[in-house]
Amino acid sequence: TSGGSDAAKRRAGESAAGTVDDGDVVGLGTGSTAAHAIRRLGERVDAGLDIRGVATSFASRELAIECGIPLLDLDEAVGADAPGIDLAIDGADQVAVGGTGDAGDSFAPALIKGGGAAHAREKLVDATADRFLVVADPSKEAAVLDRAVPVEVLASGRSVVAEAVRAVGGEPTLRRAERKDGPVVTDNGNLVLDCAFGDIPEPAALATTLSTTPGVVEHGIFVDLADEVHVGTTSDVRVLTR
Ligand code: A5P
Repeated sequence: TSGGSDAAKRRAGESAAGTVDDGDVVGLGTGSTAAHAIRRLGERVDAGLDIRGVATSFASRELAIECGIPLLDLDEAVGADAPGIDLAIDGADQVAVGGTGDAGDSFAPALIKGGGAAHAREKLVDATADRFLVVADPSKEAAVLDRAVPVEVLASGRSVVAEAVRAVGGEPTLRRAERKDGPVVTDNGNLVLDCAFGDIPEPAALATTLSTTPGVVEHGIFVDLADEVHVGTTSDVRVLTR
């Protein structure tokens, strides 16, 4: 969750929700921008749209239930005789788009996710979906990623991972809970290290380094996954497409 106007987030979320068709299985992202998409899908379900959602977090599941969206577990959505996930709609904490997104330009968005500590399940759902639509407002856009990277770790491995992060030039901080004396515990029962690396000019290389570090459950760098980025502004929506 971050700054950025709620009206802009709503435009982005509703724009992405507008692309959903009858029969779709839809990955439901986490955060305030994805929540706008979920609410709009709930309205469309009320009006007769036939979809099933796959939640990416406790919070998105709770909201989808409140909005009346029928749900599938990930195990029911994905498998030999399962329908698969047609598209996922999810927010991001930072978006670096290579090129302008106009026809002919390179479109290789890299994302930082996990501000809500939901990135492990988000990556499972977003990467598995046939199409992954990012919903964001202009406050998320950056030329180069530079936010701290959320890294979900096994509790017992947190010191080992912290040392490994320092060894590759990062500064890890254990994420602490606001209304509890102690750490944030993820939906999966793990801890989160927010790892500051400064500018990240090569997110794919850092993603590989983190993914191959023992004790890392999942990190918040998403490379080569997004198919569309819907950027809501206070007046309209820009859609960047592969
Ligand atoms: C959750 O872990 C994140 O990946 C969210 O998708 C991200 O924090 C976006 O949230 P907002 O839309 O509230 O900024």
